[in-house]
Amino acid sequence: MRGEGGMRLFPISSGWFAAFVIGAVLVSAPRAQAWSKEGHILTCKIAQALLEPEAAHAVKNLLPHDADGDLSSLCVWPDQVRHWYKYRWSSPLHFIDTPDEACSFDYTRDCHGPKGAKDMCVAGAVTNYTSQLLHYREGTSDRRYNMTEALLFLSHFMGDIHQPMHVGFTSDEGGNSVALRWFRHKSNLHHVWDREIILTALADFYGKDMDALQKDLTKNFTKGIWSDDLSSWGDCEVLSSCPTKYATESIGLACKWGYRGVTQGETLSDDYFNSRMPIVMKRIAQGGVRLGMLLNHVFSEHGREIPAPT
Ligand SMILES: *[C@@H]1O[C@H](CO)[C@@H](O)[C@H](O)[C@H]1NC(C)=O
Ligand SMILES: *[C@@H]1O[C@H](CO)[C@@H](O)[C@H](O)[C@H]1NC(C)=O
Ligand SMILES: *[C@@H]1O[C@H](CO)[C@@H](O)[C@H](O)[C@H]1NC(C)=O
Repeated sequence: MRGEGGMRLFPISSGWFAAFVIGAVLVSAPRAQAWSKEGHILTCKIAQALLEPEAAHAVKNLLPHDADGDLSSLCVWPDQVRHWYKYRWSSPLHFIDTPDEACSFDYTRDCHGPKGAKDMCVAGAVTNYTSQLLHYREGTSDRRYNMTEALLFLSHFMGDIHQPMHVGFTSDEGGNSVALRWFRHKSNLHHVWDREIILTALADFYGKDMDALQKDLTKNFTKGIWSDDLSSWGDCEVLSSCPTKYATESIGLACKWGYRGVTQGETLSDDYFNSRMPIVMKRIAQGGVRLGMLLNHVFSEHGREIPAPT
């Protein structure tokens, strides 16, 4: 399942990479959107805006007609189907449980399903669906696999693996069982990171306008606060080390910012929101940029040169 070696996600100089991202952003136009799972929609919108013509074409080709060419309209599909009988197997692919307080990710130790099935976690899923899509250009796609589903799963899981609390502690289910209040309503720690912080930011700073938030995120990685950092975002090997890097970053952030100082039953408000919002926003941007680059890689000429994973 895990590929050996392979190419760097961005096999180009960092300056060129930054110039490419900025160029791609300048030529992309904003699109209208539906309102639902905000983090995934933002990640997929950012990614799709960064696609080169080859990848843009492949994505449009793989999307069902009713998506109208908009990847973000189907990026929440894996969340919708995970409870259906037919897709129940996919449920463990959305997260990773790490040992309580370990604050680290170890693929062999942590990437398995509830009954120990190897690779059944979000890091294994990113590798799995990347390697399935690598066969798309070759026309050698395994008939067991549905390339549309591979695209939707990969796009969704690239979001999940960047959400710090999706790589959380085992006993509290990534913060799901840490009940608390978000300002005045009941919530839990996992949900605060999935949704509450994004919704509060949208309401307080962006007039609930997703396009405005997407523009601000994009501005911040092209010429704003994250632009110096941008070139390091692609510094890993597609099939082998990228998913491990992303998951390791997430559990680090979960410990440093997610769990820290939070106790069961308390009320989280301005202090928590103000200090955590920048982390959430950066993770959404990283997920989007990395998904865009990954799809460019997978659907491009040199994507073929990656040895098939065993
Ligand atoms: C890989 O993808 C196939 C097809 O969707 C699925 O049956 C399998 O469980 C996946 N495994 C992982 C680790 O994602
Ligand atoms: C691939 O999956 C999509 C989404 O589940 C489905 O609509 C489509 O019919 C599938 N295609 C094939 C060839 O099975
Ligand atoms: C973008 O950066 C500015 C600081 O320059 C910050 O105030 C703002 O919250 C950032 N926006 C997002 C979406 O992260």
